[in-house]
Amino acid sequence: MTIEATTAESSPPARRAYDVEAIRADFPALQQRLPSRKHPEGLPVTYLDTGASAQKPQVVIDKEREVYEKYYANAYRGVYRFGALVDEGLEESRDKVARLIGAASSDEVIFTSGTTMSINLAAHAYGKKMLSAGDEILLNEMEHHANLVPWQMLAKEIGAVLRFIPLTADGRLDLSQLDAVLTKKTKLLAVTGMSNVLGTLNPVGLLAERAHAVGAKILVDAAQSVPHVETNVVRDGIDFLAFSGHKLYGPSGVGVFYGRAELLDAMDPFLGGGHMIERVYRDHATWSVAPAKFEAGTLPIAQAIALGTAVDYVQAIGIDAAHAHEQALVAYAAERMQTIPGLKIFGPPISDRGAILSFEMDGVHPEDLAQLLDLQGVFVRHGHHCTMPLHDLLGIPASVRASFGLYSNREDVDRFCAALETARHKLL
Ligand SMILES: Cc1ncc(COP(=O)(O)O)c(C=O)c1O
Repeated sequence: MTIEATTAESSPPARRAYDVEAIRADFPALQQRLPSRKHPEGLPVTYLDTGASAQKPQVVIDKEREVYEKYYANAYRGVYRFGALVDEGLEESRDKVARLIGAASSDEVIFTSGTTMSINLAAHAYGKKMLSAGDEILLNEMEHHANLVPWQMLAKEIGAVLRFIPLTADGRLDLSQLDAVLTKKTKLLAVTGMSNVLGTLNPVGLLAERAHAVGAKILVDAAQSVPHVETNVVRDGIDFLAFSGHKLYGPSGVGVFYGRAELLDAMDPFLGGGHMIERVYRDHATWSVAPAKFEAGTLPIAQAIALGTAVDYVQAIGIDAAHAHEQALVAYAAERMQTIPGLKIFGPPISDRGAILSFEMDGVHPEDLAQLLDLQGVFVRHGHHCTMPLHDLLGIPASVRASFGLYSNREDVDRFCAALETARHKLL
């Protein structure tokens, strides 16, 4: 057997025409029929939980398998052929991620285990060194716990103060209040690119400009936005960006932390161990430069390599084309859902949101509804979606969430709405 990696491209992949049925054919999980007593031919899979984690195209599955089958080795350690192929695969993937987010250099792209780890990295490696008692961290109530709790922990440890940008009644950042909360005391503004509950798309470029004007840095939790809206950290003046591979049609277990080069240089490592050092003595050590400085230990090797394949996959389709498709689908879904009595969708108008619809049905428990939808082959999420403060603000303990991806189609929406009607009749 000859040993070679199958994708060694250095330029972005060629664009393909947007054909949702052809895209669906790339995803084996969507081809299955679910066993059903009432439907001997089986039920189609209606996967509406892409916001939690996206299904994987065959090319991503194949790439991860290829690494294990053909040239698996540890990364950045061996000069032998397997090791060289792994190192090459990782650096190609890093380049692809850098291009995806518009980073100036692939050295600004650090592989982590996911968004949560990336934000914790920022809180420890940047926050602990650069912030001190009395400094303010600006958040808001639509944030996922991953972009709240690390800042709460940091604030408690160093005596920093948490402040919040108020939200409008329809679930947007109330920018008219920004001057009141973004002041010279603000050292960091941490904000989601897209709310994982309301779907709200936040104006990160404008927020970065306003943050920089008072001398603050901005961190964007891009877990939901990177897969669905075009991202460019240089154009938008983003200092730090975090996202997960698994929401970008890539493997789980790998994520990205982007930091501007001069900030990464000024930061200390978050974790100590192998690979992140320059020289280790008995009683102290010196650090390597980024990205190695922040990649202690063994990386999720096959996952990080396959993340590059996922990036190629979405870029061939085009994030802008996927976004337009998803917007049209969400508009169609919202229109149909509005005809169902007692159903209330949370969040801003469709034009200001991404492919997520969270809702409640009057008199129906979210868990019961999600379970009845499952019986009809429709997979949605219920609960607080790791946004308890947002649910407190909405005055509800839980909601049901339908989230869409580049493979979702109108039939998904039709089956979802039909299943909602059936569930409503059963439950009320
Ligand atoms: C907006 C947002 N931030 C952070 C996360 C956490 O991502 P992960 O669990 O991959 O670290 C999620 C996941 O649901 C999310 O939607």
